[in-house]
Amino acid sequence: MALSPEEKAKQVQRMFSEIAPRYDLLNRLLSFGADLRWRKRAVALALERRPRRILDLATGTGDLALMLKRRAPEAEVVGVDFARPMLEIARKKAEALGLRVAFQEGDALALPFPHAHFDAITIAFGFRNFADYPKALAELRRVLAPGGRLVILEFPPPPRGVFGLVYRLYFGRVLPLVGGLVSGSFGAYRYLPESVEAFPSPEALKALMEAAGFRVRYELLTFGVAAIHVGDG
Ligand SMILES: C[S@@+](CC[C@H](N)C(=O)[O-])C[C@H]1O[C@@H](n2cnc3c(N)ncnc32)[C@H](O)[C@@H]1O
Repeated sequence: MALSPEEKAKQVQRMFSEIAPRYDLLNRLLSFGADLRWRKRAVALALERRPRRILDLATGTGDLALMLKRRAPEAEVVGVDFARPMLEIARKKAEALGLRVAFQEGDALALPFPHAHFDAITIAFGFRNFADYPKALAELRRVLAPGGRLVILEFPPPPRGVFGLVYRLYFGRVLPLVGGLVSGSFGAYRYLPESVEAFPSPEALKALMEAAGFRVRYELLTFGVAAIHVGDG
């Protein structure tokens, strides 16, 4: 039976709270370090227009928010997530690095910010988990200032062809096993490939963003394993 949006949100929140302590390690391990390259590219695109106030939404353990702050120390960076244990790790990392990023609890579908508050918004591997994509995009548009930029880094459904087959095998079999063993949560790492298969194609996501009023382009990374969508308001 399909979950209601509220049930899906609760499930996602519980899952990320559970895997928080091993989340960073598994990211590096399971992507063979490629996620760092993808994040750097997302950061470069987000900073292109020299934003002064940046929201890193679904910030998790804060990697992207911290990268943004390091690359643009003069900008105000806020990281928002609804899984408290992830935010606790993010805060510790910021403190250890001496970086001033405000990490606060919040739901992507009802953001605790006024209209037109941010010049840029980034979301890395978070958008897929939102329970209602059009509602999330409308909310993002609300808090983004006119002329602001939205950058979404995500895993599109696996590409076709031989590479797609190998990738599906890795993503569908190896990753859930390693992720489950290391994190202790088999459910979370089974959810990852399932949610990626169910995610809109890059063209479909572009259309959703356009319907929300963004001018959109996207680029595929590492043979289409990851994609970055850039939406200008
Ligand atoms: C795969 S993690 C990505 C974390 C981080 N952005 C990164 O790149 O490592 C997804 C995050 O999205 C958060 N999340 C999912 N749905 C959310 C929502 N509706 N509001 C706020 N955070 C949400 C989860 O709690 C989780 O920390």
